[in-house]
Amino acid sequence: MIQAFIFDLDGVITDTAKFHFIAWQKLAQRLGFDIDHEFNEKLKGVGRMDSLNLILQHGGISLTEAEKENEAARKNDEYVELIADMNASDLLPGAREALEAIHAAGLKTGLASASKNAPAILARLGISDLFDTVVDARFVINGKPDPEIFLKGAAQLNLSVTECIGIEDAVAGLQSIKDAGMYAIGIGDPAVLTLADTVIDGLHQFDLKHYI
Ligand code: G6P
Ligand code: MG
Repeated sequence: MIQAFIFDLDGVITDTAKFHFIAWQKLAQRLGFDIDHEFNEKLKGVGRMDSLNLILQHGGISLTEAEKENEAARKNDEYVELIADMNASDLLPGAREALEAIHAAGLKTGLASASKNAPAILARLGISDLFDTVVDARFVINGKPDPEIFLKGAAQLNLSVTECIGIEDAVAGLQSIKDAGMYAIGIGDPAVLTLADTVIDGLHQFDLKHYI
């Protein structure tokens, strides 16, 4: 019996990809090259240092570990400045309603995000109190596609994986949910999200009674 839903943040609850793109583009330009929106798709759900490594590889640049740390910190400072103006209007359609419907049915909610900025973003969106547990990149050793983050979410809710449903927009995130042994709801294009058990366009299409 389903007891909880564990959500990804970026691309499911809110769209931060556009802010990550601006900050990564600035970094690329500092180093003398450009990234485009198509390349940005590859960074969705990918942690900060892994993203930086992909970008450097794309630009054919190699940096020392210290330089990488420095560039990643600078990118994050820029990103933090961009998200400072986020508010409830940045919630994707249906996100708040889905979280509220789950709680109204007496079920639990969790967040499993690769972003270390996840708690700050939840606060800006005004939905921190709609999550019973939050697992972000600071608390896991292996990022998505490893199942660790969703396994930890279920454990923190004191539930087994078969009692939880994971919701994700990225292929790496769906891999993480499926390898954790959970039912997976994909958000996006069914032709791309083939790992998902079901795919919807967005949380505005989330209908709790389909899953419980
Ligand atoms: C999410 C985003 C990625 C981002 C990652 C780390 O998964 O989709 O684009 O790189 O979080 O975010 P952070 O805020 O910790 O740099
Ligand atoms: Mg995502």
